[in-house]
Amino acid sequence: MDTTPRRVEHQQTDRGYVPVYATGTVEQPWASYSSTDHEVWDTLYRRQKALLPAYACKEFLEGVERFGFGEGGIPRFDDLNEVLGKATGWKIVAVEGLLPDEVFFDHLANRRFPVSWWIRKPDQLDYLSEPDLFHDLFGHVPLLLNPVFADYMQAYGKGGMKAHAIGPEALMNLTRLYWYTVEFGLIRTDEGLRIYGAGIVSSKGESIYSIDSTAPNRIGFNLERVMNTKYRIDTFQQTYFVIDDFEQLFDATGPDFTPIYAKLATGEATSAAEVLDTDKVYQRGTREGFATSGDN
Ligand code: PHE
Ligand code: CO
Repeated sequence: MDTTPRRVEHQQTDRGYVPVYATGTVEQPWASYSSTDHEVWDTLYRRQKALLPAYACKEFLEGVERFGFGEGGIPRFDDLNEVLGKATGWKIVAVEGLLPDEVFFDHLANRRFPVSWWIRKPDQLDYLSEPDLFHDLFGHVPLLLNPVFADYMQAYGKGGMKAHAIGPEALMNLTRLYWYTVEFGLIRTDEGLRIYGAGIVSSKGESIYSIDSTAPNRIGFNLERVMNTKYRIDTFQQTYFVIDDFEQLFDATGPDFTPIYAKLATGEATSAAEVLDTDKVYQRGTREGFATSGDN
């Protein structure tokens, strides 16, 4: 079987110029994974399993346990869907890779989470530029067992359709919310700050950096602040936003965003490394090692 995803077009997004793949869902081609593919899963799983008890939030760690992820190679989506469906009514669907925004939102709004069926190569354990199975599955799916987070993701999908209809600026504001919560969010716990963002828990380097480094800012979550903050796709984050709990996230995003989009459209966006007077600052970053140029 052809293991190269079929690239159909390219699209300019807030995340840069990205390949957009075929939009249909596929059957997970489980029988055609190579032994190398399974070993890549096992290696990535082993590394994160050893690291994350001290870094990830308990809801994420519990999700990993409940799915029974392990070193037995790439999980079968059908098995995971048994657990997921019973818990929160979500379902994983296999896709070729990144999807056009409307297609992605439609999946989320219907409690379907698209997971890239292919896994990275052994020389890409630490970095690859587009989401693969390990990121999508290990990073995103455990929290879909949490009822509040599961509802937030569905509400985000519905909000995405609305933002898409309003226009590109609204969509960018909403994409920043996804970036700073679903992908790169931190959460306050009795044990200190912990990770819930999928982009962090699926990366060994950023798991450590996001919690232990003194370089980035760590700032209390504020909806408009987040929706107005640019982000970098080419480095570890310069700012992380910290929620108190998933209820805070769900409640803050409940109101209609239409007036927020209108207000943000009239002002300047905040750059990725900036700290504002109005911020609730957990950590003012030293900015050590930050790139001084680029779109931030
Ligand atoms: N309340 C948002 C809106 O009116 C929808 C939304 C919910 C967006 C949750 C993101 C997350 O658009
Ligand atoms: Co992701």
